[in-house]
Amino acid sequence: MTPLTIAIDGPVGAGKSTISDVVAQRLGILHLDTGAMYRAVGLAAMQSGVDVKDEEAVCRLCKEGKAQVDVNYRDGKQITLLNGVDVSALIRAQEVGGAASVVSRYPLVRKMLVARQQEMAKAQSMLLDGRDIGTVVLKDATVKIYLTASPEARAQRRRNQLLEKGLDTPFETILAEVNDRDYRDTHRQADPLRQAPDAVLLDSSDLSFDETVNAILALVEEKQ
Ligand code: DC
Repeated sequence: MTPLTIAIDGPVGAGKSTISDVVAQRLGILHLDTGAMYRAVGLAAMQSGVDVKDEEAVCRLCKEGKAQVDVNYRDGKQITLLNGVDVSALIRAQEVGGAASVVSRYPLVRKMLVARQQEMAKAQSMLLDGRDIGTVVLKDATVKIYLTASPEARAQRRRNQLLEKGLDTPFETILAEVNDRDYRDTHRQADPLRQAPDAVLLDSSDLSFDETVNAILALVEEKQ
């Protein structure tokens, strides 16, 4: 049987990762959070003392095999490895997210990670989430979804997450960050974020978490 492939793309804060985790679990397939792989390359640069803005130096690290990114699964949960070391927790730091957004612009980094992602999705049924899954990584995915929400809704969700951690950040500051990330993701030269022509647009601005999960499951069922 050909593996089932699900591509979920969308802007920052649309809830792709958490929603993808639950959808994959419900379908009994693995979820690959591709952003984690870009974060691991960002971390490799930081740990090697390489300026992430220095494209040549970051690419040299990759060519020399000093930024080897791998993914394993333990009890269905993704473990992201950098040069054989589990960095799943380290890559969640905010600075690493910043480094990832810079190194993800480099074509050589993208080529290396896209090849790995395609290899994984060939071997088994998978759900991949990222920015270029439906447009580049899995052009023939069984189901493609472009998951978005208004910048205001995404900023409000982010503000709520930060409040839960005891951080009271002004809504306007978060909204400005969301708009800034959107601009960078959609205007970069290498594989910018855009909706694939054959992707279904799902706007979750007025949907609850469960409603969004169920809408995706319904789309998968319809396409299968
Ligand atoms: O989704 P995230 O914040 O973990 O992603 C980290 C960075 O990697 C973000 O700046 C977007 C980039 N990225 C990408 O360019 N392509 C992907 N398929 C996934 C993430």
